[in-house]
Amino acid sequence: MALARINSGVLAGIEAHAVEVEIDLSSGLPFFSIVGLPDLAVKESKDRLRSAIKNTGFGFPVKKIIVSLAPADLKKEGSAFDLPMAIGLLAADGVIEGDRLLDTLIVGELALDGRVKGIRGALSLAILAKKQKISHLLLPSENAKEAAVVEGVSVYGVETLPQVVEFLNGKQTLPKTSPAVMVEEASQDDFSEVRGQAHAKRALEIAAAGGHNVLMIGPPGSGKTMLAKRFPSILPPMRFEESLETTQIHSICGLLTPDQPFLISRPFRSPHHTVSDAGLIGGGQIPRPGEVSLAHNGVLFLDELPEFHRSVLEVLRQPLEEGKVTVARASAVLTYPAQFVLVAAMNPCPCGYRTDPKRNCVCTETAVSRYRARISGPLLDRIDLHIEVPTIAFREIASTHTQETSEMIRKRVLLARERQAARFAGEPIRSNAQLRPRQISKRCKINSESEALLESALTRLGLSTRAYHRILKVARTIADLAQEDDIRTADVAEAIQYRSLDRKVSTHA
Ligand SMILES: Nc1ncnc2c1ncn2[C@@H]1O[C@H](COP(=O)(O)OP(=O)(O)O)[C@@H](O)[C@H]1O
Ligand SMILES: [Mg+2]
Ligand SMILES: [Zn+2]
Repeated sequence: MALARINSGVLAGIEAHAVEVEIDLSSGLPFFSIVGLPDLAVKESKDRLRSAIKNTGFGFPVKKIIVSLAPADLKKEGSAFDLPMAIGLLAADGVIEGDRLLDTLIVGELALDGRVKGIRGALSLAILAKKQKISHLLLPSENAKEAAVVEGVSVYGVETLPQVVEFLNGKQTLPKTSPAVMVEEASQDDFSEVRGQAHAKRALEIAAAGGHNVLMIGPPGSGKTMLAKRFPSILPPMRFEESLETTQIHSICGLLTPDQPFLISRPFRSPHHTVSDAGLIGGGQIPRPGEVSLAHNGVLFLDELPEFHRSVLEVLRQPLEEGKVTVARASAVLTYPAQFVLVAAMNPCPCGYRTDPKRNCVCTETAVSRYRARISGPLLDRIDLHIEVPTIAFREIASTHTQETSEMIRKRVLLARERQAARFAGEPIRSNAQLRPRQISKRCKINSESEALLESALTRLGLSTRAYHRILKVARTIADLAQEDDIRTADVAEAIQYRSLDRKVSTHA
């Protein structure tokens, strides 16, 4: 056979697209050309291919070789085509019999000695194989567990080029990789460890129930980080499709291990405030999802919010608004999912102790307003709940009064989520937090008494229209937690309390 075709694939966003690797061997002066790859990658691929094939004892064909990767207009990055190209060459040269290749998808990078090295995005490639109705997937053994979660595709992990050749020729059998057993590990961090802070815990329960973004304000040591870390433990468990999506993103970033090939707990990402725009949002030369996408279906925790670069806070607007990010590149626009709950924390002032009754704040009024102004405007407008976290008294810390466990809180959250699922059945939203302004008046009706209360609060506190909408959404969630069909005046009153920052800082964009 002088012509061989191998099924392979390449990532674009979180999806993999089919790529056909075609090898044509003909007699003539030795010549080796690869078409369909970016210029820079071609030379490196040729060198790796030549060495890997020679070093494993196969002869490198002394012929005219043309390798083409189709479709030509699809951008192909990375080195995962090494293995399909090598296999194609050997098949075209008669070393491998072709029949098994038709129903096999192959990806893998080759080391110069013929070892098969790991790749990114194995899960997306397995999903591609299934979509293309290809029943076998051959890929680096370190990525096999990641791919094996997809049903209907037989996954084989391979370690060397000769092993792949033997397998395809039917001379060696390889074990089919079985999917990892998935059990949600009980989180190490539990709300029962947090003493007191009933107000903060209540607000976080509301946030979890309605999917609302929260900002915690309190002095250093008051427990903000401790509370944030426990937030995922009261969120509903991930549904399988959510796990699949989130795992795909982590797979593309190469963050999965054979021990943990599939994510079943909601991600909790806490990038440092020195994170770059690309680190947070995604992008780069070979594009990768950023922290907002790694937090997809989970929690993005931004500690010391005012310390983040202004530009970083600006780029958060799109994911907060749309649940996804678009990364523009020279040749294409990529989209990554980024649906997360934002949990942010900050001190009340630069020194940190403004609201601490036992310490003296040394900040000037100007310094305090400048500090708070860093997070005012558009970002603050997308945060439904502001939570004051006071320093708690020693006697509260020392108290042995039993605290509710995360599981107890999560039960109530789940019931509130069920009410929302029923309410939004057939609509593209899942939680009250995702309600758009024009849907709010229909979905969050309040009685005239509540209306009057809200009116007076708006005037008294000088709240914006956007704040008004946030209050209604939060009031809806509070009513859902209470299993109430109608929003009560008390729910509205409680929701108003969670706008404390609006009173101190103007939020007009
Ligand atoms: N309410 C609390 N219950 C139990 N321990 C607490 C509480 N608040 C603070 N702590 C203790 O103080 C430490 C510091 O809290 P931390 O969450 O880091 O504060 P912050 O992030 O507000 O600066 C925690 O690790 C915990 O040991
Ligand atoms: Mg902290
Ligand atoms: Zn201060």
